[in-house]
Amino acid sequence: MNACIRAIVRIGCKQRFQVYGIVGGYQGILDEAYVFLDARSVAKIIHRGGTILTTGRSEEFKTKAGLKKAAEKLKKKDINALIAVGGDGTMRGLYELGKRWKDGLLIGVPGTIDNDVFGTDHSIGFDTAVNNALVAIDKIRDTAEAFSRVFLIEVMGRHSGAIAAHVGIASGASAIIIPETPTDLDELAQIIIEERRKGKMSSIIIVAEGDEAGDATAIASKLTDKVEEGCRVSILGYIQRGGNPTHCDRILATRLGAYAIDCILEGKTGIMVGESGRDLVETPFEDTWKKKKHIEEWMLERITDLSS
Ligand code: F6P
Repeated sequence: MNACIRAIVRIGCKQRFQVYGIVGGYQGILDEAYVFLDARSVAKIIHRGGTILTTGRSEEFKTKAGLKKAAEKLKKKDINALIAVGGDGTMRGLYELGKRWKDGLLIGVPGTIDNDVFGTDHSIGFDTAVNNALVAIDKIRDTAEAFSRVFLIEVMGRHSGAIAAHVGIASGASAIIIPETPTDLDELAQIIIEERRKGKMSSIIIVAEGDEAGDATAIASKLTDKVEEGCRVSILGYIQRGGNPTHCDRILATRLGAYAIDCILEGKTGIMVGESGRDLVETPFEDTWKKKKHIEEWMLERITDLSS
């Protein structure tokens, strides 16, 4: 997100905008937590994870009174345009705010490791999270192979299997367990048993934390009776969300941040900017959560055949 903030500030300053950062997410509007940002103030942040502005989940902002108050605060500060980076909750926030705040333009930028926002191929943070997970999984594989073990590795995704699907393919896993598709534990056990029969002595199974059959720990205990040697569990957790962003994330964040300013210059509002193929695209806020972003089907279809 820092690369995005940097691009917004630098391109905005070139256009002679006065740019303010809002500290702590939507709650920062209610608390009038503004910080003036000039081109130099965003130096040396492109390589840093997280956000220099910090963020949060504001319960007050979600209420009717909170939204009304936010609109009043923006008016009081004489803000002409608001750019917010986040997932579907952030886009809903912008949409609701837009009903009450008619004095300025609202632009969303997709930023979530879950990559589950409709209207962009990738959201900011996804590539970094996938690569963070891969580094860890490659290391766990050494133990799996040395000790001939089955590992269930849990990755983030309360409602989304995007991280699991991508790391599953990229780590050479035997199976991917995600909330978007039904999980058949007998079938999963069979995949492991079949691998043993063919002489493969270790297995890596990637589990999205929000699978309907349970998280990795729950699935491992359900597999106890089905898989003779049992399954080890490794939960990657918040390690996935931090650290230096990858090159892909820095480029995406910079491109989308710069484009958000272009949209404001053209007087656009009520849209999330995104990337589709190599093109920049705009999606109305409502579509970003009402339309479903699908996991790339080929990943789920090919995963078993790719493992031998
Ligand atoms: O939205 C990203 C995400 O990492 C989800 O995959 C995860 O379930 C959730 O955030 C956890 O967030 P927190 O624990 O900070 O509420």
